[in-house]
Amino acid sequence: MTDSLAPVVAQHYNKIEEKGLEERKQSRIFYMRNFNNWIKSMLIKEFTEKLKHVDDKKYVLDIGSGKGGDLLKWKKGGIDYLVCADIASLSVEQCQQRYVEMKERHKRQRERGRCFDAEFITADCTKERLKDKYKEPNMQFNIVSCQFAFHYCFESITQARIMLRNISECLKPGGFFIGSVPDAYDIMKRLDEAPECSFGNDVYSVTFHSKEQPSLFGAKYDFHLDGVVDCPEFLVYFPALLKLAEEVDLKLLFCKRFEDYFDEKRNDQEGQFLLTKMQALETYPPVLTSQKLMGSDDDYHSAQQKIKDLKEEKEEEPIHVGTLSQSEWEVFCMYCVFAFVKKDKDGN
Ligand SMILES: C[S@@+](CC[C@H](N)C(=O)[O-])C[C@H]1O[C@@H](n2cnc3c(N)ncnc32)[C@H](O)[C@@H]1O
Repeated sequence: MTDSLAPVVAQHYNKIEEKGLEERKQSRIFYMRNFNNWIKSMLIKEFTEKLKHVDDKKYVLDIGSGKGGDLLKWKKGGIDYLVCADIASLSVEQCQQRYVEMKERHKRQRERGRCFDAEFITADCTKERLKDKYKEPNMQFNIVSCQFAFHYCFESITQARIMLRNISECLKPGGFFIGSVPDAYDIMKRLDEAPECSFGNDVYSVTFHSKEQPSLFGAKYDFHLDGVVDCPEFLVYFPALLKLAEEVDLKLLFCKRFEDYFDEKRNDQEGQFLLTKMQALETYPPVLTSQKLMGSDDDYHSAQQKIKDLKEEKEEEPIHVGTLSQSEWEVFCMYCVFAFVKKDKDGN
């Protein structure tokens, strides 16, 4: 049995510096990161809306919460209490700091309603029992969210089981487990098509140590994403996840590829508004000639085609469309969102 890679993962995330908006705007993957955030916003919106009829306080557990990228989304969702847990202690500190600032701003600007209360836990959620770490061990959660983090538990079957027990044991019957993970089928397809053990483009790379059939757990690859991620990850073989989830009374509601979830939500009124507000898409061609594109012109074939089609349809000029560069789109399409529901005692 090899040593767990958890310390490598924790060290990697602890080392990532928090960047300001101006610096983030310079990133080659600025729009893709915003687009990922948009996907999370829509998922969180979908499930917090399901709690609208709940009269009691609404509790959420965010596993692998990182630096608190979803705090505002939870605030918008009108929850009452949030527990954030992550293996990287510095990220947990930064998350807490961000929460304090958000709460102060809420007070200062006299925003409507009250801001949720929160607690912050540093823990390896694939090895430790979270229930023993909450301030109130019998807390019953309405939602457990694990965004871009669940795949780390697929290092071994034991870790996956502990993670799923953590998720399930504190969920209310009828509560939801939502998340986003790399799509193992898509990754394996890209690996099959690649001449070597590695594939990618100018913004990301995925490297396996061989092209052999991966094992169900511990199917490691090294993931590099321009300036943000450089660390080992594990394939989540979905049938295995379903089997383990079943053991802890979690029933699958859906698993959708990011691009399909985008198609489903893009015409939602709030979705449309957020696409613009969050700068989730790049404008092609740029509105100002002084503005530079993220990629090279070759990276925008689909936007060029869309403009051509629109021109034929409407015979109007000039036309701008919202898009992602091809390189960013390829990364975006490597992920899926999923949702499970915790069964009640009758198994429904
Ligand atoms: C890609 S980041 C995602 C952060 C956040 N959920 C988001 O969407 O912005 C993955 C996070 O998972 C955390 N993580 C990785 N392995 C973990 C583990 N075993 N237990 C708890 N957190 C873990 C990392 O420290 C990191 O903060």
